[in-house]
Amino acid sequence: MVKANIQICPFQQKDRESLLRIAADTAFFGAPVENFMEDRRIFLDAFYVYYTDHEADHCWVAKDGEVVIGFLTGCFNTRLQREYTARILEPQALRKFISGKYRIGSKFIRYIIRYYLSKLSSPKDHLDLSQFPAHFHINLSEEWRGYGIGRKLIERFLDQLESANICGVHLQTTSYNKAAKILYERMGFTLLDFFRSLLWQGLVDEPIYELIYGMKL
Ligand SMILES: CC(C)(COP(=O)(O)OP(=O)(O)OC[C@H]1O[C@@H](n2cnc3c(N)ncnc32)[C@H](O)[C@@H]1OP(=O)(O)O)[C@@H](O)C(=O)NCCC(=O)NCCS
Repeated sequence: MVKANIQICPFQQKDRESLLRIAADTAFFGAPVENFMEDRRIFLDAFYVYYTDHEADHCWVAKDGEVVIGFLTGCFNTRLQREYTARILEPQALRKFISGKYRIGSKFIRYIIRYYLSKLSSPKDHLDLSQFPAHFHINLSEEWRGYGIGRKLIERFLDQLESANICGVHLQTTSYNKAAKILYERMGFTLLDFFRSLLWQGLVDEPIYELIYGMKL
C-alpha cells in the first residue's frame, strides 16, 4: 500500500540537501553513517555528490508534501561513473583530507583500513557492464519504510531506463540489508554474483556478503 499523499518526483537541485541528509542518515544498513565515520561529508563527497551533481536527471525523490522522505539516485553508465569517481572525486576528497578539511577520528581510520583491505582481498566481480550498464542506490527515512515507496521509486527509474533504451541495470547490496533483498527479488532482479565482505567486520555480528543483482530490460 502506498501512503496516499506521497509523490514520486524528478530530483531538483532544491532537494539536494535533503537527499544528502537522508543518504548519510541511512548509510549503515539504514542507520546513520556516524556508525563508521565521524564526518559525513567524506562519505557524501566520495559516494553521493556524483549523482546529485552529474546525473541529476536520473535521480528521483519521494515527497510527503514538500518534504523529501526518500530517494533513488540513478546512473545510466556505470563505466563513466567509475572513471569520474576515480579520476576526479577520490583525488578531490583526498586533497580535502590532506588539507585538514575533514574531521578524522578513529572510526574513520578503522573504516578506511577495512575499505582498502577488502578491496585487495575481494574477488573481482563478474558483472558484465555491457549487459547491465545502469545502476542505482535507494534509501528511505526510517519512518517511511514498508509502505511501497521503495517499489514505486524503482518502478519509476526502470520506466526511465526503458524509455532511454538502456539494456540492463544492476545494484549492489548486502546480505544484511534484509528488506532491500526481499524488495529486489520480488521485483524480479536476479542475483548475479556474491562474495564475502570484510568491510563491516567488528560492526555487525554476522558474516556479511556483498550481493550484486541485475535485471535485463
Ligand atoms: C530497502 C528500502 C528502500 C525498501 O523500500 P520500502 O518502501 O521500505 O519497501 P516497499 O514497502 O516498497 O516493499 C517492497 C516489497 O518488499 C517487501 N518488504 C519491504 N520491507 C520488508 C521487510 N522489512 N520485511 C519483509 N518484507 C519487506 C514488501 O512486503 C514489499 O513486497 P510486495 O510489494 O511484494 O508486497 C527501504 O526499506 C530502506 O530505505 N531501507 C534502509 C536502507 C536500505 O537498506 N537501502 C537499500 C540499500 S541497497
